[in-house]
Amino acid sequence: MIDFQKLANEFGTPLYVYDAEKIRKRIKKAKTVFEGLDAEIVFALKANNNPALLKIMAEEEIGADVVSRGELLASKMAGMKRILWNGNGKTHEDITHFVNQGLNIVCIDSLQELPLWDGVNVIKLLRVNPDVDARTHPHISTGLRAHKFGVPIEKVSEVADRIDGIHLHIGSQITDVEPFFDAYSKALDCAKQYGFKYIDLGGGWGIDYEGKELDIERLQKGISGIFAGFDGKLIAELGRFIIGPAGYLVTKVVSVKPSEKIFIVTDAGMNALIRPVLYDAHHRIQVLASTKKTVTADVVGPLCESGDILARGRKLEVPIPGTAIVLENAGAYGFSMANNYNGMPFPAEVLVDGEEVKLIRRRQSIEELFTNVKM
Ligand code: LLP
Repeated sequence: MIDFQKLANEFGTPLYVYDAEKIRKRIKKAKTVFEGLDAEIVFALKANNNPALLKIMAEEEIGADVVSRGELLASKMAGMKRILWNGNGKTHEDITHFVNQGLNIVCIDSLQELPLWDGVNVIKLLRVNPDVDARTHPHISTGLRAHKFGVPIEKVSEVADRIDGIHLHIGSQITDVEPFFDAYSKALDCAKQYGFKYIDLGGGWGIDYEGKELDIERLQKGISGIFAGFDGKLIAELGRFIIGPAGYLVTKVVSVKPSEKIFIVTDAGMNALIRPVLYDAHHRIQVLASTKKTVTADVVGPLCESGDILARGRKLEVPIPGTAIVLENAGAYGFSMANNYNGMPFPAEVLVDGEEVKLIRRRQSIEELFTNVKM
């Protein structure tokens, strides 16, 4: 058990806390899905790019799925060996940079991008749009024809001799297996038709935010059935599944304000965790010290927007001001989407590995908010 209050006292709040052992376990679990198949897992750095966490990924021998030079640098700092590059806005300059840095696999987003890769010696995958409905939040759904990513799967015929395989990613936080099986089967048909050696299945495996999660055993059975006869290599780009449940946002209760409803005001707002505001996301809350009285409350941040909310209409015991509360499942798209709105510095990050506790990013100072400003 992690003593969150103790960490809050020692490192201050808002504070991101990660559990190293949980990360390792989630990687092992992800690997079981591909047992008996030729497959590799890459970690999607957009979910979290702290190099100290990526080092754990490197030690577990998984590669990196990066979208920018910044993420590429983080992956190199961590010693990640296999690099896959995703993105729908790659520039000439970026391509030169990535190739010089030892890029292994590129996911090409359009037929317009394809010529940029002619003559370049990397594994080339074309992102196809399988036109399946991922049944997830519209902002994180990507596999329908109307979305901006990839090309219609029929277009592959025009360029099949210039690519090594296909890539798809139908969305994120998907908790039903069926959309995956639909998309994977379409990808397999396409790969067989053109004799491709690679299929990149993307990510999207949904975690348990509020009671529903992807059934990993069913996923494993389905994948081993679908790809049993496939004579090639599979790739999975996993972000949230690996790091989401291994991270926590610890924030101090500044006040409990009885109004028309009860507001629990914390020192973290949508600057530290924007998911509740952006996607109506639900993060379970642990109250560490309470009055024992249960109420229904909104947990709100300190920023100047009425939309600055961490949890809406949540039933919980009234926390004691000055003590910390913990938002669960904050490891993915938590710190990586944090921002400086209202002049709020970035939170600190701590890694707990058994008995060992390590500060892996110190809190940004107020002065650091402006060190790159010239007047
Ligand atoms: N591969 C591609 C091409 C992606 O676009 C993504 C996520 C992933 C892999 C990793 O997906 P995951 O395994 O983490 O579901 N900010 C949103 C999530 C955006 C996901 C974007 N793409 C959130 O906080 O829910």
